[in-house]
Amino acid sequence: MLFGDVSEELTRRVVEALHHVSDMEPSGALVRASSRSGVDYQCDLAMSLGKRLGKPPREVAADIATRLDVADIAEPPKIAGPGFLNFTLRTSWLEDRTTALNGDPRLGTAVTARPRRIAIDYSSPNVAKEMHVGHLRPTIIGDAIARLLRFAGHDVIPHNHLGDWGTPFGMLIEHLLDERPSGPYTIGDLNGFYRAARSKFETDDDFATRSRERVVLLQGGDDDTLSLWRHLVDESTRHFTQVYELLGIDLSSEDVYGESFYNPFLGAVVDDLTAVGLTELSDGAVCVFPDGFRNREGEPLPLIVRKRDGGYGYAATDLATVRYWTEQRRVNDLLYVVGAPQAQHFAMVFAVCRAAGWLGEEHRAEHIGFGSVLGEDGRAMKTRAGESVRLSDLLTEAVSHAAAVIDGRGDLSPEVREEVAGAIGIGAVKYADLSGDRERDYVFSWERMLSKNGNTSVYLQYANARIRSVLAKADQELTGVRITLGHPAERALALALARFPEAVGSAIAGHLPHKLCTYLYETAVVFSRFYEQCPVLDAEGPGVRDSRLLLADLTSKTLTLGLSLLGISTPARL
Ligand code: ARG
Repeated sequence: MLFGDVSEELTRRVVEALHHVSDMEPSGALVRASSRSGVDYQCDLAMSLGKRLGKPPREVAADIATRLDVADIAEPPKIAGPGFLNFTLRTSWLEDRTTALNGDPRLGTAVTARPRRIAIDYSSPNVAKEMHVGHLRPTIIGDAIARLLRFAGHDVIPHNHLGDWGTPFGMLIEHLLDERPSGPYTIGDLNGFYRAARSKFETDDDFATRSRERVVLLQGGDDDTLSLWRHLVDESTRHFTQVYELLGIDLSSEDVYGESFYNPFLGAVVDDLTAVGLTELSDGAVCVFPDGFRNREGEPLPLIVRKRDGGYGYAATDLATVRYWTEQRRVNDLLYVVGAPQAQHFAMVFAVCRAAGWLGEEHRAEHIGFGSVLGEDGRAMKTRAGESVRLSDLLTEAVSHAAAVIDGRGDLSPEVREEVAGAIGIGAVKYADLSGDRERDYVFSWERMLSKNGNTSVYLQYANARIRSVLAKADQELTGVRITLGHPAERALALALARFPEAVGSAIAGHLPHKLCTYLYETAVVFSRFYEQCPVLDAEGPGVRDSRLLLADLTSKTLTLGLSLLGISTPARL
């Protein structure tokens, strides 16, 4: 075994050995990376097994160890403490592995043996509203998760669930007809429209009535109404696409499956739920009360599928969405990257779909929630005027802050400068969003995210650019070079580089991109220790310089691939 996930491989070997000792079938990761000195991996299985077998854990560990065949990878395992099995990888194996990794574009990461077809809903802004800071997280996190899953070999289908249907469009279209704005209008105008329409709707009864009638016309398929509606959607989509391009997000207009797309399926959703006896009438609305959902008073909670006025709401559309993707598009998994406040909505939608048979045993549906972006005052992030921060303003600001970071660099041409500022600024915004546990809120701070020290993308981009400049200085062909690990700092770096597949695996397993960030940061730190302790260009001894150059090259490849899986680019020069 030269490629692949080391902890997975050691786990496999432990399970094999275990078959000789007991008939238990443990699951999950039994062998984990360790940061203790002299220990690369550790297994604590003997402790839980000892209890069940009624044997001292150290004895169980010894039984496993005698049956364990890891000689090709690791030194004979040691039994430590109450019954840990400690593994130290053979240095010669690490040398073989890192040498071989240089020829592997996947850096040792296997393609999944069980590819799945996965629909992932992310970004999903609302038409006629400019994207604001609240859209950062579903867009950035969703994009990173999609990239990671694709890299693992899954068939990933992104879909952008645009809010492009329903009541607000009645008032928007009426307002548009009242005002008849001349010439092409922008998304910025639309924001103003939206606000004006809203306040008119609240104060002007005649307008409110017309708006309601307009919704009926829209949902009934009236041609003129539809063409005005289309105009609003197209203009908004154009704006979203621009933001995605600026952000380097893999979403295009072809990935748009807005709420309107599911409109033709809504009637059947209600009919079929009713046919299987899942619906109840409550206050004139058609509802489903999925098992296990109750409000604070202990009363069953409804999922409203058809409102009293006959209209369909957000929940009905999501039911139709699940059904469409499992029945018509034959996906195995449905992922929804949507803020934490919608956790209950999705749990209820999934429960109803399970009851209706639209989600079967073979399907997995998961809501991938996340916390909020906070301002430096610890409250929801707002502009000074108290409004939501527009995403396009924020990104422009990111790039100009980044330009200031590289200001002293007179040697960069204006074009390179612009490109680098883009990579740093956008990278910083993305990395700040991805590097913390997604379930938590985080404070948006330019100073912190653009710091050259600490767990930031700028730090990683600089580390990478420094390596590339050392390699450029050496200007040396490295094919056929073999890595040798004489110094402890070299070995530590090789070990970190060998763990790339584990980091990718753990980021994918829980949809937790921050695990990959942490790994990349730690690897860059281990590299800088290596670089302090081991001269590279001035290395002495046969083959040492070549070997160190190759280790440096592999580090750069690892940082580059890792960041690219998060949607962040790595300029060669900074
Ligand atoms: N447009 C919605 C919002 O802004 C998010 C949609 C999420 N996706 C979904 N299938 N419900 O809250």
